[in-house]
Amino acid sequence: SHYGDNDVERILFSEDDIQTCVKEMGARITEDYAQVAYDKTPDGLPSVLVLSVLRGAAIFMTDLVRAIDLPLETEYMVVSSYGAGTTSSGVVRILKDITSSVEGRHVIIAEDVLDSGLTLKSLIRIIESRNPASVKVAAMIRKENPKQADIELAYTGFECPNEFIVGYGLDYAENYRNLPYIGVLKPEVYQGK
Ligand code: PRP
Ligand code: MN
Ligand code: MG
Repeated sequence: SHYGDNDVERILFSEDDIQTCVKEMGARITEDYAQVAYDKTPDGLPSVLVLSVLRGAAIFMTDLVRAIDLPLETEYMVVSSYGAGTTSSGVVRILKDITSSVEGRHVIIAEDVLDSGLTLKSLIRIIESRNPASVKVAAMIRKENPKQADIELAYTGFECPNEFIVGYGLDYAENYRNLPYIGVLKPEVYQGK
């Protein structure tokens, strides 16, 4: 049992489901990038760069990179669209940029969840404008949001109903990110807030 169990209506993906899924995704990425991953940039950096969007994706990203058996760099950006509420404001803010150059490199964006798609849409546009060799997205969760932007996911963990979910990086007002599973938050936890 876990501290957040009482706030969760039902578990959608268990810790085992998630760990199995991430290991499979890592194995596929290992195969797909094996031919390019041993190239180096002129500065000697790995050609593959896994870019994670703080804070939600940090948990997925650390599991994913350990499931990829290739040289790679890890980078972090802070892009926020939700604030403390439960629905997207439509405003995507870049609070922290990456420090490494992506020019000529293979970028894999690791995201915890694709919901409205606003975060990924702007992020992909920003990265593509910097002349990478390629950009692909690995998302742990694709929410079945009817208003979702058209985003191509190269790697998708799970499809999930359009409900308020928490755990494995996903928060409500910064809570529950450290739950090892993904579950639906009880409405009474956020109602009236
Ligand atoms: C959440 C989540 C994704 C994004 C997805 O981040 O981690 O990054 O929203 O929603 P979208 O597809 O509607 O843009 P949030 O902005 O809440 O910041 P966080 O990662 O710090 O929780
Ligand atoms: Mn996020
Ligand atoms: Mg959030």
